Amino acid sequence: MQLIRVKNMEEASQRVYEIFKEQLTSKKDSTLGLATGSSPIRLYELLSKSKSLDFSLVKTFNLDEYFGLSPEHPQSYHYFMFDHLFNHINIDPGNVHVPSGVGDIQSVCDQYNEMLKDNPIDLQLLGMGGNGHIGFNEPGTSFDSVTHYIELDQRTRQDNARLFFDGNIDEVPTHAITMGIANIMAAKRIVMIICGKSKAEALKKMLEEEPSVQLPASALMSHPDCIIFADDQACSLLTK
Ligand code: F6R
Repeated sequence: MQLIRVKNMEEASQRVYEIFKEQLTSKKDSTLGLATGSSPIRLYELLSKSKSLDFSLVKTFNLDEYFGLSPEHPQSYHYFMFDHLFNHINIDPGNVHVPSGVGDIQSVCDQYNEMLKDNPIDLQLLGMGGNGHIGFNEPGTSFDSVTHYIELDQRTRQDNARLFFDGNIDEVPTHAITMGIANIMAAKRIVMIICGKSKAEALKKMLEEEPSVQLPASALMSHPDCIIFADDQACSLLTK
């Protein structure tokens, strides 16, 4: 695990953009693992505006989806991905995968796990929740977990209500489908964007304490190729 300290979200996004560019140039049929939320928005804008990148052979797998929201729902992660990225690049819609937020839970999870087995992820993008979650793997999730149904923490619902859902927590679904920690750890390379004061405590625990299921992101400490881009605010509590 490598920590690269940056000034702000802009610098983090530019640095991660360079990694995506290098990945897509060296392997045209890359499989990408993608995230939603506020952390990747600027990166997706940079990828959308790039004239030189070719996504025609690229496959993508998103980390998670709210359970109970259809793909057409404006707050679904499916909608988010088309709005922020897929509508602006030359990707084949048949090559994009977001877990379904509707349907039979067990078969949605089983199918996603099968697809991930058949399509190893070359480069996985991650953000981190203020409680240390990755994907929607909330504190307490086993490091061996694969795609599963999970109840969202109150803090996650509050954070996501603030940024999305017009501040209305009652609108934020209570459950989600998420890739498990083992699925994430199977990626060949991982890049993470961690910005803002609200992430400082979790980042400190991740880097300065023993890995624990209470902090899902700490599983990444044993990944062989994981780079974290964290800004000054997120790094503000680090002592080492
Ligand atoms: C989103 C996801 C989450 C977010 C995390 C940080 O697909 O998997 O783990 O990355 O909640 O969210 P933001 O970026 O909004 O701070």
